Amino acid sequence: MKKDIFIFQLFWIVFIVFGCKSVSTNKMTEYKTLNMNNFDTVLEDKRITMHTLSNHNGMQVFITNYGARIVGICVPDKNGTPVDVVLGFKSIGEYIKSPDPYFGPCVGRVCNRIAKGKFTLEGTDYSLVINNGPNHLHGGTKGLHKVVWDFEKFSDTAILLSYLSPDMEEGYPGNLKINVRYSLSEDNALTIEFDASTDKKTPVNLTTHTYFNLSGISDISINNHIMMIYADQYTPVDSTLIPLGTMIPVEGTPLDFRKPKIIGTDLDQKDLQLKYGGGYDHNFVLNKTKKDSLTIAARVFSPVSCVQMEVYTTEPGIQFYGGNFFTGKITGKDGKKVGYRCGFALEPQHFPDSPNQPAFESIVLSPGKSFYSMSKYVFSVKKQSI
Ligand code: GAL
Repeated sequence: MKKDIFIFQLFWIVFIVFGCKSVSTNKMTEYKTLNMNNFDTVLEDKRITMHTLSNHNGMQVFITNYGARIVGICVPDKNGTPVDVVLGFKSIGEYIKSPDPYFGPCVGRVCNRIAKGKFTLEGTDYSLVINNGPNHLHGGTKGLHKVVWDFEKFSDTAILLSYLSPDMEEGYPGNLKINVRYSLSEDNALTIEFDASTDKKTPVNLTTHTYFNLSGISDISINNHIMMIYADQYTPVDSTLIPLGTMIPVEGTPLDFRKPKIIGTDLDQKDLQLKYGGGYDHNFVLNKTKKDSLTIAARVFSPVSCVQMEVYTTEPGIQFYGGNFFTGKITGKDGKKVGYRCGFALEPQHFPDSPNQPAFESIVLSPGKSFYSMSKYVFSVKKQSI
């Protein structure tokens, strides 16, 4: 087993050193996979369309107001050829029908899991829909991901989407007004800003749920990517992926990504957390010296495209999900089957199940206060690994 891992690592190291030498600064050619017309429809009397943000350095971001969703992110690869590093579909119909609704949307009101779908706020017990084993996941059946958002396009590089989630929608108290702003800068950074306000106390934890494959191919494993996560600790979970309520060091565990590591390196280790997650599906406690400051959370690199993505966030945690639930049954926009562990999500957020975890920072938003978070996904091409 050890020998296999060694050969696997050696193969990728050789590939990375020699494969990424041909970095060029060619201007990107036009990206043709996504056709706007395939995203024009009406759902529950609301119009759905797709919008493109683009800059002068060859980056394009495709966004639909169905779930305020990222449909594609196109960046130059090592040859200057556009590569779409986001998994998804060619048409809105496929997004609406997809058995996995989490390709690219904003998720909430409370992302991640709430144990048994229950929480108590100001003496009142609330029950949410159970949609993931015994738990509530990503805000419920429709959440924010299956609703049609309003939008305003400001320019070629910025769009604002908003949604008013009515009192008791999916079981959550209060009318919650949510805005998400996507903006693209000339240095190939996509910034995602959330703000929200409420008229009753309510829990709020919003994130973006994009499945990345930096090689841009739906059936190539992401286990060959090299990743770093800026976290000394993580929140271990039970067998239903609910946190135990503690924060423990990553040191000496497969969750140690403090130095660049090929994602697949430790995946075969006998480890209870990997067993519970079916692989990586954990919240990392980001190293922050100042609360709410925008700091680097993770860096990922594909040895195939030589694309590097850095994630910065004001959030205290980041969920790293390694695509363990992909079964190869869904066909992606490149016509290939989205294979097991062929996409990953890095979801900046407050810690999972916070409403039931006294040791975690509160996610309760009060009337008169506003929720705000900012995350940045920055893309570049690297000659050599991170
Ligand atoms: C992730 C979550 C996974 C899985 C996935 C959607 O955010 O951590 O457990 O539910 O979403 O398939």
